Amino acid sequence: ILRPFQFDWKSSKEFSKRHTKITIVGVGNVGMAIAQTILTQDLVDELVLVDTNANKLEGEKLDLQHAAAFLPRVQIQADTDFKITHHSDLCIITAGARQNPGESRLDLLQRNLNIFKSIVPTLVRESPECLLLVVSNPVDVLTYIAWKLSGFSPNRVFGSGTNLDSSRFRFLLADYLDVNAQEVQAYMVGEHGDSSVALWSSISVGGVPILSFVTNKSEEFEQQVLEKIRKKVVESAYEVIRLKGYTSWAIGYSVANLARSLLRDQRSIQPVSLLSKGFYGIGDDVEVFLSLPAMLGRSGVVSVAQIQLTDEEKNRLQNSAKTLWEIQQQLLI
Ligand code: NAI
Ligand code: 2OP
Repeated sequence: ILRPFQFDWKSSKEFSKRHTKITIVGVGNVGMAIAQTILTQDLVDELVLVDTNANKLEGEKLDLQHAAAFLPRVQIQADTDFKITHHSDLCIITAGARQNPGESRLDLLQRNLNIFKSIVPTLVRESPECLLLVVSNPVDVLTYIAWKLSGFSPNRVFGSGTNLDSSRFRFLLADYLDVNAQEVQAYMVGEHGDSSVALWSSISVGGVPILSFVTNKSEEFEQQVLEKIRKKVVESAYEVIRLKGYTSWAIGYSVANLARSLLRDQRSIQPVSLLSKGFYGIGDDVEVFLSLPAMLGRSGVVSVAQIQLTDEEKNRLQNSAKTLWEIQQQLLI
């Protein structure tokens, strides 16, 4: 039906300098939400799925492939063997246990630590040049573990961290103020989870610092309201897990957006979990991964934003760091 025209034929890989390959390890709710969001973005040439559950893997691959007529062209592959991940640009890890209703993220640590010990060295062997993005929980501690197991420089290993919390924060603020969430700039930093820190001092709406925005609207935007919103952000995941059993769509968009920033060298500022020692008063000897707003590009974390924090915000961040450091010191990696 199609007659070849080009005689001096080379593989498409040789033609395309931009051949990009993303691997997702773990094809559960989260892995698949990320996969399907990435596919809609015209971001990659090759998407690879890996899991230990061969039937689920094959089923998910076929189901995605059947959408080819509606999507940008992407080669979708799946295997239980990590050889298929060879030469990935970005490896996203979502494998592992998730919380049952009422469980905290930290309760998952021991189960997921063992899984990471088997996954990370194999991924790194196949793609020694890749960026590693951790999503499995507890994401901050597991990102530290992935960093240790990988031997990579810290700019290439990071976790989705409070990227999702920040998105929830922006949604709730936007809902309260009745504006588009994309007009709200607001960060949650620190641990992804119960001790995350809301940075009130840096919230702006349409470029206007929030306090003047709300004054103009003659609204009372008191500490109590803000504190309520922060609590709601922290409770968000528990609420969704209680209602539907897991969270997936928002983390899917969050991680696909991070993948775009990284592979397209967007240099956008996004909160991600990164090696935070030496930043914001966290000691140089405290090797913890916590989320801070960072500039992301093709080489991973390019720089960390220097935001003016209040003393209280700094204290909370340092306490988060201390807690995670104590947990990490009991781990046998
Ligand atoms: P799920 O149970 O639906 O999927 C987990 C998948 O991992 C399963 O398909 C399982 O077969 C696979 N798996 C287990 N061991 C493996 C191994 N050694 N190699 C390859 N695959 C393996 O769980 P779900 O809902 O997808 O959650 C995954 C993780 O993501 C959980 O730890 C959860 O807490 C975390 N999560 C993190 C978020 C964040 O913001 N960082 C948001 C939502 C979930
Ligand atoms: C979330 O925040 C459970 O960490 C997961 O949705």
